[in-house]
Amino acid sequence: MDADLIKLVNKLQDTFANLGGELDMPQLAVVGSQSAGKSSVLETIVGRDFLPRGQGIVTRRPLVLQLIHTPIPEPDATNSTPSYTEWGQFLHIDKRFTDFNEIRKEIEQETYRVAGQNKGISKLPIHLRIYSPNVLDLTLVDLPGLTKIPVGDQPSDIERQIRSLVLDYISKPNCVILAVSAANVDLANSESLKLARSVDPQGRRTIGVLTKLDLMDAGTNALDILTGRVYPLKLGFIGVVNRSQQDINSEKNLQDALSSEEEFFKSHHAYRNIAHKNGTRYLARTLNQVLMNHIRDKLPDMKARLNTLMGQAQQELNAFGDAAVYGDSNQQGSLILRLMTQFARDFVASIEGTSVDIS
Ligand code: GDP
Ligand code: NA
Ligand code: MG
Repeated sequence: MDADLIKLVNKLQDTFANLGGELDMPQLAVVGSQSAGKSSVLETIVGRDFLPRGQGIVTRRPLVLQLIHTPIPEPDATNSTPSYTEWGQFLHIDKRFTDFNEIRKEIEQETYRVAGQNKGISKLPIHLRIYSPNVLDLTLVDLPGLTKIPVGDQPSDIERQIRSLVLDYISKPNCVILAVSAANVDLANSESLKLARSVDPQGRRTIGVLTKLDLMDAGTNALDILTGRVYPLKLGFIGVVNRSQQDINSEKNLQDALSSEEEFFKSHHAYRNIAHKNGTRYLARTLNQVLMNHIRDKLPDMKARLNTLMGQAQQELNAFGDAAVYGDSNQQGSLILRLMTQFARDFVASIEGTSVDIS
């Protein structure tokens, strides 16, 4: 993710935490048919390998993934235990996971534990936090795929159940929807677009993601879709090529996957001219822009709240100031409030000068 955006968001978040508030960032959820490539797309956005992916129904419980920015730890000569810069922590188990393969195994086991061994689905989410210096505080949600025909332990109304589960997440106005469709399936049948449109009819918070461009029939391409001539979306369609099942089996790493993806777009006769507006990296940048716009929309509100907090701090400061004159032990408190008020004032000045328009 973009380093400047990470810095800006962290600064805002720290300020609000110091003032006892909270910067409310959007959630990001993936929607699409089973095996469209939802988990693959999320994983490349996070930039780490840790999600179960594969043929058929793999994601059977919502995974609410909270990314938490942590500073890089200072090297500590007196402490012999290694300090990790990135780790995962589940809500259901008190353990720090530093091996991302173990995280994947734990997700699989926790899926089996609650949703059974035989293709059943559960609404009960798995909560995972990933702490890393390379992320910004953001919540991503991986969701089971939309499906029509029950298999295994699935109930006869599986279609309705999954739709209602997905809607629980994407109907929140604060949710950015990644509507994933596979390029080797007719877009007219795309369930993700239909569902996204039902909660975001103007297409303000929906990004179309077209996967599996590498699997289209020879002689066909998705140029019309990618250039917005088939299905209009304000935020557009972005084509990606994720790792194939073969790539997963042979443990192809993310960096190599990103390079092959770039090569795919640059060398494809139909996509050569739009290569710079496609691919996972471009998707990540688009996402940054959406988040920036979200923050910009929230600035007036945030400023109003800061002003209120400053007014309150000023009142308390005055009260403490009086006490200090009479030799009260709260002198230190008044100093902290003074500094805090100054900090808040500086901060309001700084966000007024902050350019968040990256277009
Ligand atoms: P989900 O069910 O929507 O979460 O999809 P997954 O991410 O689990 O992917 C399903 C299968 O499709 C896996 O075997 C992936 O390797 C494969 N897959 C996903 N995206 C692509 C793609 O862009 N190209 C190719 N060739 N395979 C893909
Ligand atoms: Na799958
Ligand atoms: Mg999945």
